[in-house]
Amino acid sequence: MVSAQNEIRRLTAPDIRARKGGEPIVSLTSYHAHTARIVDAYCDVILVGDSLGMVMHGLETTVPVTLDMMILQGQAVMRGSKRALVVVDMPFGSYEASKKQAFASASRVLKETGCGAIKIEGGRRLAETISFLAERGVPVMGHVGLTPQAINTLGSFRAQGRNEIDWGPIEADARAVAEAGAFAVVLEAVAEPLARRITSQISIPTIGIGASPACDGQILVLEDMLGLSPRVPRFVKRFGELGPSIEQAVRTYAQEVRARTFPGAEHVYPMRQATVAKLPERGKGPSRA
Ligand code: KIV
Repeated sequence: MVSAQNEIRRLTAPDIRARKGGEPIVSLTSYHAHTARIVDAYCDVILVGDSLGMVMHGLETTVPVTLDMMILQGQAVMRGSKRALVVVDMPFGSYEASKKQAFASASRVLKETGCGAIKIEGGRRLAETISFLAERGVPVMGHVGLTPQAINTLGSFRAQGRNEIDWGPIEADARAVAEAGAFAVVLEAVAEPLARRITSQISIPTIGIGASPACDGQILVLEDMLGLSPRVPRFVKRFGELGPSIEQAVRTYAQEVRARTFPGAEHVYPMRQATVAKLPERGKGPSRA
């Protein structure tokens, strides 16, 4: 007999690739088992983004994030989810040096997490690497436009392609990633008309973040859309305001602990009836010899 759990099939990179021009691809980031479980019920793709460096660890940029950090959180997300395609970001320094380095890092991610795909940042300069990986069984999601791992050469996190004169290289990057064999590409902070145009030109799904409603899918960082991040970029819509409700819960907890009203009788473990020791009532105990 096949159990109900076995009937749930995870989406694969080819499933997502086949969604080009179809029903929008819904994606969010997650780094933990518990949030992955919630997100999994509604999303097609869960990205274990290297944004975890900033969101979980309070780093200024994603540059210091390591492969081990990505693998640890990738494992957590795989345990928490069962339906969505889980994509794990390759962190800065784990794939740029050579195709071989990229394959060694990507194969560690696939083997150690069990995820279905990896994501790498960069366009034309990464095309050969993307082909090398895709030909060797590594599904690759590309990422062009604003590529946060390049912060030290970009100078700031700013939108790309807001002047038409800058469109050429961004279009060429997206096309190169598609032609190299990526199954989808993230367009981050790309001017709306350019993101729309790229989406209509390339053969693989585009997943927008601060890009265009015309993209084949959308992605946001979960903590941003839940209202937990202190800095909110223009492209984030806050679908929730968890910050104030978490603060309220913590305030109430602290008050109740201080007042000794928590834990209540329902939160502690009484002894089982048979084993309750008969304690003498105060003042009525056996008299000492
Ligand atoms: O790291 C991340 O969360 C990302 C998304 C913003 C696309 O790359």
